[in-house]
Amino acid sequence: MSYSESVALKALAKVQDLSGKRDIVAAGRLGDMSFQDGYLRAILLIDPKEAEAFEVVRLNVEETLKNLDGVERVSVMLTAHKAAPEIAPRQKRSANPHQARRPEGYQGDAFVDHVIAVSSAKGGVGKSTIAVNLAVALARQGKKVGLLDADIHGPSAPILLGLKGKRAVTVETEGRRLIKPFESYGVKAMSIGFLTDDGPVVWRGPMVQGAISRMLWDVDWGHLDVLIIDMPPGTGDPQLGLAQDIKPRGAVIVSTPQDLALADARKGVAMFGKVDIPVLGLVENMSVFICPDCGSSHDIFGTGGVKAEADKLNVPLLGQAPLHISIRESGDNGVPIASGEGPESDIFHSIAQNLMAILLA
Ligand SMILES: Nc1ncnc2c1ncn2[C@@H]1O[C@H](COP(=O)(O)OP(=O)(O)O)[C@@H](O)[C@H]1O
Ligand SMILES: [Mg+2]
Repeated sequence: MSYSESVALKALAKVQDLSGKRDIVAAGRLGDMSFQDGYLRAILLIDPKEAEAFEVVRLNVEETLKNLDGVERVSVMLTAHKAAPEIAPRQKRSANPHQARRPEGYQGDAFVDHVIAVSSAKGGVGKSTIAVNLAVALARQGKKVGLLDADIHGPSAPILLGLKGKRAVTVETEGRRLIKPFESYGVKAMSIGFLTDDGPVVWRGPMVQGAISRMLWDVDWGHLDVLIIDMPPGTGDPQLGLAQDIKPRGAVIVSTPQDLALADARKGVAMFGKVDIPVLGLVENMSVFICPDCGSSHDIFGTGGVKAEADKLNVPLLGQAPLHISIRESGDNGVPIASGEGPESDIFHSIAQNLMAILLA
């Protein structure tokens, strides 16, 4: 703990908890705190039911921290946590500390018909590109679509959907304080990028899950036909915990055609199998390289790999997206390729149709 963090901790020990009986540190409210270059961030753990009442405490905490020497900027975030205030959250955590929690009393996931986890074993294979374009394609096909960017360490929805720099606000809806998602290309989107000031977040495991949980359950999604989740890359405990908590209707696994990537795709299928979540299909990304000058296509990584793997695993191949500069550029520019016309856009529309056909079968 840095000097400033310990000073902050002492100051916070003088702020009263909601009950008025204890201070917030003794009550186990402090989930995480970090101090860097004059920027102090704290996360307070609350029961979602307390969200509104707790705003007063949050403001007290913010005020207290702002007055500390050397602190220029403060961010105090409330994170939904099931821990009862009387028990320190650290003792109450389940065996799997990564597991996110559905708030108590939450009415199932009635707000959405189909939750789809878009997953990949490794970063950089185009998971976010596929997730966003799939969401945009479904929206253009008339579906009510949400996109939850659950990749806390590398959020990309804000850039891909042209929402960079936006800050989410909360709204009072049916007695609950909910985060308002941003809508872009007909897709309601939620990302950690809308909640924090700086780039990738370096929270520790349980906080990550708390934040994802909040972005799922405490968002004013309205009614959705489909919620696409851009999962964090990997097939380890955090991903498993998240999949168990969210219980998607099914998963879509993104892979590139190289052998190594295929081995990872297999791991992904195995992971979802462990928690009885069906893999609805594979998507091959960067399948062939399309030359931007002459339009000819080149099998740089070999061809047919994902199709063969899909056959072996007995899951459908939903589609193949080529490596095409327009796909990258449209992503960087925040204008998803699926929002326009052309062969690259068509591919995502066909992936979306194939997915819907499976969901509605
Ligand atoms: N089919 C594609 N053609 C060209 N560039 C792509 C394609 N798919 C992804 N990219 C680019 O590759 C990079 C990584 O993609 P991204 O979707 O962020 O991957 P992930 O979410 O798996 O880390 C981005 O710059 C993206 O624009
Ligand atoms: Mg990504």
